[in-house]
Amino acid sequence: MENVKLKDLGDVAVIVFDSAQERVNVLSSSVLKEFGELVEQVKNSQNFKALIIGSQKPKSFIVGADIKEIKTVTSKEDCVEMLNVAHNIFNTLEDLKIPKIAAINGHCLGGGCELVLACNYRIASDNSTLALPEVKLGIFPGFGGCIRLPKLVGLQGALSMILTGSMFNAKKALRLGLVDEVVPLSLLEEYSLSLAKKFIAKKKIIKPKKRKAPFTKKWINIFLESFLGRRIVYKKAKEGVLKQTKGFYPAPLAALDVIKSTYKKTTRKKALKLEAKFFSNVVVTTVSKHLIGLFFLTEKLKKQTGVSSSEIAPKPVATMAVLGAGTMGGGIAHLAANKKIFVRIKDLNYKSLSLALNFAQSLWKKAFKRRKITMYQMRSNMDLLSTTLNYSGFQNTDFVIEAVVENMNIKKSVITEMAKHTKDACIIATNTSSLSVTEMAQAHPNPENFIGMHFFNPVHKMPLVEIIRGEKTSDQTVATTFALAKKMGKIPVVVKDGTGFLVNRLLLPWMAEALLLFEEGESVEKIDAAFSKNFGMPMGPLRLIDEVGVDVAIKILHIFASKFSERIKVSSLCDELVKKNILGKKGLKGFYLYDQQSKEIGVNPDIYQELGIGQPQNLLKSQDILDRGFFTMINEASRALLEDKIVENPEDVDLAMIMGTGFPPFRGGLLHYADSLGAEYIVKQLEVLTNTAGFRFRPCSSLKAMAKASRKFY
Ligand SMILES: NC(=O)c1ccc[n+]([C@@H]2O[C@H](COP(=O)([O-])OP(=O)(O)OC[C@H]3O[C@@H](n4cnc5c(N)ncnc54)[C@H](O)[C@@H]3O)[C@@H](O)[C@H]2O)c1
Repeated sequence: MENVKLKDLGDVAVIVFDSAQERVNVLSSSVLKEFGELVEQVKNSQNFKALIIGSQKPKSFIVGADIKEIKTVTSKEDCVEMLNVAHNIFNTLEDLKIPKIAAINGHCLGGGCELVLACNYRIASDNSTLALPEVKLGIFPGFGGCIRLPKLVGLQGALSMILTGSMFNAKKALRLGLVDEVVPLSLLEEYSLSLAKKFIAKKKIIKPKKRKAPFTKKWINIFLESFLGRRIVYKKAKEGVLKQTKGFYPAPLAALDVIKSTYKKTTRKKALKLEAKFFSNVVVTTVSKHLIGLFFLTEKLKKQTGVSSSEIAPKPVATMAVLGAGTMGGGIAHLAANKKIFVRIKDLNYKSLSLALNFAQSLWKKAFKRRKITMYQMRSNMDLLSTTLNYSGFQNTDFVIEAVVENMNIKKSVITEMAKHTKDACIIATNTSSLSVTEMAQAHPNPENFIGMHFFNPVHKMPLVEIIRGEKTSDQTVATTFALAKKMGKIPVVVKDGTGFLVNRLLLPWMAEALLLFEEGESVEKIDAAFSKNFGMPMGPLRLIDEVGVDVAIKILHIFASKFSERIKVSSLCDELVKKNILGKKGLKGFYLYDQQSKEIGVNPDIYQELGIGQPQNLLKSQDILDRGFFTMINEASRALLEDKIVENPEDVDLAMIMGTGFPPFRGGLLHYADSLGAEYIVKQLEVLTNTAGFRFRPCSSLKAMAKASRKFY
């Protein structure tokens, strides 16, 4: 067999996974078939008195079912058939009359985790992580996980694992009862064998004694497992899922239904049949296909370098400097130190420097409180940050990120100054959100070492970084910056220099349209709900303007309007908003109101009166609002991609929109959404809007060409 081997150790059988063509073990149909045959062999042998299941891969057990296969499933019947094969194999394993020990070494995910549930003893090495992350792909555990896990760890534990897809390290898995023991990796093999021998000698499986739960906890657990208690748990779980998913993701609700209908209620056969039926319903949804597509995009990114030539290797970045310790500089410094890079931070005054240090410390303190890092890690991270008011220490840095105020003259002057204090090979990146990288590079003696690295706010939360290639930026600089962004845990997308780069270029027309809709008499609630509650954006455009700062957003809108005069109309209320000091979250008053802790407390009811406009008439339908916002965005995306070649392919647009703006992943991104409507329909609607709402909606030539040829972005 190619991928799974059976070792005969006398009375102990060892089945070892070692996929021939893969770096990690994946439960594809062919691997499952091989495994099934070996389980049958063990079943039919009179010699074997115990079975150990392990992996030959150095750092992982089994990372899950084959997602490529899952992506291609389009028929529910085929899916049920596929699941039946896996169910039969896992049932045969579960029914073997001998002890079955899973020796888990590293990642044990999805289908791999479901496989170990069919064993009756699980030992995890101390580096292991276990998870059922299927909901992140729009599906749920379909190899019996929804049936076996609640039986093993109880209802609450199982729901927390299945409905969220969270990762459990070995220690946490032990506490949950998912594994029976944790041992050092180096001892795993030897220990599993000695345990198998012990079970054979004693003729039974001896589980380690568990620490007794405190009296009250024990009784609460007993209650929550009772008929009445379970109803409470299901109700709470459903509320939690709806809060998290806003009802847009069917998989966790389907998983909940499976567990609710089967746990403590029915036979294994009936339960598995129901699991397969519900699984086949979700696997064919576009939600699942989009989430799997996104998974593959991020996987592809892991192998990319940002440049086409495979000859160019990124240079290592061990020491870095950040210029400007404000909102963005502070966030970037924290992120870099978090990834063990030495960071020198420079600002004009001590106050900004200490604010940046406090900010980083507050984030690490939170991580420490959540037991994500130890006190030692927190202190050593802090030790990686140092501050200065001059350029001392810059001479040793490999990379500098400039995050001073958004002003071309100031930026140019600090870049020229900084170049005198850094080595020739040092790369200088600007975090500008709107200025030309090519123009800024003129201030640097080595423009090939100059690049844009646009982080999004808040830096520690937003996954996207736009890597902006100036006209003279070298491939080496792009590759190094791309690798650095990945090292910092971000998703880099390489874009060409141009107004707003990619994400802001698409977001700004959307924000501008929202302001116009507001001016025309639509309420704040209705505008924002059309995009967030009804469509799935994390927040509506007016709430986003508050977040960015009304004055900042309007300043950028004017810049855009000056560059794309026919495509953007700035609402006449904009300047009035700033004049009336309605500045958004930072001023605690914008389209919404905020408390002293900057928490949003609802729509600002006085905004209409303050701006001297009447109460909203709300004459438009939600769909009209949505179309005005998104069709203008799609129009701009078509220009950016197909005409100005800001990025190379539609995947880049979708990835950037999902990671940089939170565009709903279940819709697959802006251009997948556009394709679902069709270019012909969009062009027709844009033409209607051009006649009714204004010239700015005129469909661009590339979109019209697509419509004419009935083509799609993908
Ligand atoms: N805030 C955002 O949401 C956001 C998002 C993406 C990009 N950006 C961009 O990041 C950059 C910084 O924005 P910010 O919001 O962090 O600004 P900020 O005003 O919070 O911080 C700027 C910092 O730069 C310092 N500074 C000014 N001149 C300096 C100099 N010569 N040397 C050293 N320090 C100097 C200031 O003292 C201040 O601490 C801008 O280019 C902005 O467009 C901002």
